[in-house]
Order: sequence, then structure tokens, then C-alpha cells
Amino acid sequence: TEPLRLGIAGLGTVGVGLVRIIRRQAALLEARTGRRITISAISARTRDKDRGVPLSDYAWEDDPVALARRDDVDIFVELMGGADGPAKAATEAALKSGKDVVTANKAMLAVNGQALAELAEAQGRVIRFEAAVAGGIPVIKALTEGLAGNEIKRVMGVMNGTCNYILTRMQSAGLPYDVVFEEANQLGYLEADPELDVGGIDAGHKLSLLASIAFGTRVAFSDMELEGIGRITIEDIKQAADMGYRIKLLGVSRMTGRGLEQRMSPCLVPASSALGQLEGGTNMVVLEGDAVGQIVLRGAGAGEGPTASAVIADICDIARGFRLPVFGRPASSLTDATAAVSATP
Ligand code: NDP
Ligand code: HSE
Repeated sequence: TEPLRLGIAGLGTVGVGLVRIIRRQAALLEARTGRRITISAISARTRDKDRGVPLSDYAWEDDPVALARRDDVDIFVELMGGADGPAKAATEAALKSGKDVVTANKAMLAVNGQALAELAEAQGRVIRFEAAVAGGIPVIKALTEGLAGNEIKRVMGVMNGTCNYILTRMQSAGLPYDVVFEEANQLGYLEADPELDVGGIDAGHKLSLLASIAFGTRVAFSDMELEGIGRITIEDIKQAADMGYRIKLLGVSRMTGRGLEQRMSPCLVPASSALGQLEGGTNMVVLEGDAVGQIVLRGAGAGEGPTASAVIADICDIARGFRLPVFGRPASSLTDATAAVSATP
């Protein structure tokens, strides 16, 4: 069998994590997929940078669009970030050149997901993005595969590790926001623009992607009711704790008679509940299906290993010949998510 050849654009936290897994687990990946997974070419902004992993075996491209079009690339792996710009341009170039795409980029999909899904479908290619939602937690696979026979009733959870880290550390250590924010930065949780994290936008992007998959609607990020953690003070956190609660940035999405309801905002949850006890950069996603009832998925929502773990899982699915539509069903069948936001989650 021919090897499956990757072109990786972006060699930051996630890109380097992916290279490490591919080098370390070559034999395991081949045993599990029946194909050898190789890296043909790589791209980043700066060529001469020690990234802590050997890269000299791989061809270099300054331009991610050129990387996406290379003849020796079967899957374009987009790990640069950004809703538009080079990430979108290179993803489009890859699809138009007949390559499948794997990405961790929730911003790109939340903003441009419908157009990219339509392009992928027209080209007979797939885009997979397990890493874009809740990092290492296989929540998209849970929805599209494990719960394929369920009508989904509700999707909710904590989907931004930075915010959860900041809120729990402020609470448990009594540390000020700035100190805790820097700790989250050191752990590799933060987006290039941290306002995406603390403004609730990143978590909103993720919830909008899950809602599209769960409810068969076009991604409707712009209709979401959104509030970040910027106004939460240490006094708020202490007051909540005194009453037996924790403050969590919680997302809830469900289909109502008036359309899709999506809300991402700081909420009080009982300190003794599973959500209340969720610590650090951990994410928790709760899925409710008509047949299965409620299931809870919990794990690392960010960081090198967990995120690369989800990226390689998507690559393995493609290696096995699994060709799922981008949002789990044909792009043309996705319906309008007529915004209907209620006052209560
Ligand atoms: P980083 O900022 O660590 O890395 C980004 C990489 O992209 C860098 O290597 C950078 O090059 C490269 N890059 C940026 N712009 C360009 C460009 N114009 N041309 C070529 N290369 C470019 O990001 P992360 O690895 O943290 O995140 C990557 C993606 O994964 C993002 O979409 C993010 O939202 C998503 N994600 C990240 C998670 C995490 O835990 N970090 C978790 C889940 C998703 P250089 O190194 O030379 O500057
Ligand atoms: N900045 C994101 C977070 C990274 O903190 O959860 C994972 O998507």
C-alpha cells in the first residue's frame, strides 16, 4: 500500500506535537491503519528556528499555499490558526488541488465552515477537525459515530481550557488574574490572540461547530449569545464559593421550537457537581441523545500532546478510508439555524 503523505503548515505547539507522535508511533500508526504515514513537507513563518524536534528530513515551503498544492502531499494539515488569511487560502488551495484537509482551526471553521464544506464536497474531498473542539477529547467522533443513531437533545460543557484554568486557579490559590493568565500562557493553552479565549469567542466557536454537527444546522456562530470572563472578579469567585458554587464559562446548545439556541457565558454551577469540580485546563462536554441519555466526556482541551492526539486520529481515519462529510452530513442538507436565544440555559 502507498504511504499517506502529509504536508504540515504550522509548527507551533500543535504542529510540533504532531511531528513528535508521527516519529514516535510510526509502527503503531501503520499497524492500526494499514498505511505508513509520512511527512513530505512542512511550513511555518520562520525557517531557522529550533523547534526541539528533527525537521531536516522534510522539504520546506515558505508559502503554505505552495505546500498545500505539492504533488507529494495527500493530506494538507493546517495548524497555523486564524479565521481567514493563510489558513483559509491554503485550505482552499489544498481542496482545489485534490487534497484532504485536517485542521485544528475552530476559528476558520466557525466563520468559513459552510463555504469550505461546500468546496470540499464539490471537490470530493474531506475536512476533518476533531482537534478544533475540546482538544484531545474525541467529541466529534462521539457525535458522528458513537451517537449516530441518536437525535441529539442538548450539547453543553466547558470548552475553553484557558478560562477554566484562570477561574479555578483564581478560586483555589486566591491568585490575581494576571499571574494566572501568565501560567496559562506557559502551559501553551492560549490562542495567539488571548482575547479569543477570555472573551468567550474561542469557546463559542467550538460550541457552534458542535451544534452544527449535533443538530444538522449551518454553523451559526454569529447568532450565539456570548459573554467572556473579563468581568469576573476575585470577589465574584469568593462570593460564589461562599454559597457553594463555582463560576464556569459554560456553553449550552439545543434545538427549540423557535430554532437553535446557543449560549456561552459565565454560569454558577454547584461546587460539588462534576462541572464544579472541573479543574485546570480540563474540558468537559455533556451530550444528550434520545436513545443513549446523557454521556459525559472529560479530558485535556488544549496543549501539545492532547491536541496532536486528536489531529493524528483524524489522519488515521482518512488513512483507513473513512470519508465523513465535514459536518457529519452533506453540506447541502444543513438547515438554517434560525437564531432563537432564550434568557435561561
Ligand atoms: P502556535 O502559535 O503555537 O503555532 C502557529 C504556527 O503557525 C507557528 O509555527 C507559526 O510559525 C505558523 N504560522 C503562523 N502564520 C503563518 C503563516 N502565515 N505562514 C506559515 N506559517 C505560519 O499555534 P498552536 O499550535 O497553539 O495552534 C495551531 C492551531 O491549533 C490554531 O488554529 C489553534 O486554535 C488550534 N488549537 C490549538 C490548541 C493548543 O492547545 N495550542 C488546542 C486546540 C486547537 P512560526 O513558528 O515560525 O512563528
Ligand atoms: N485556547 C484554547 C483553550 C486552546 O484554552 O481551550 C484549545 O482550543
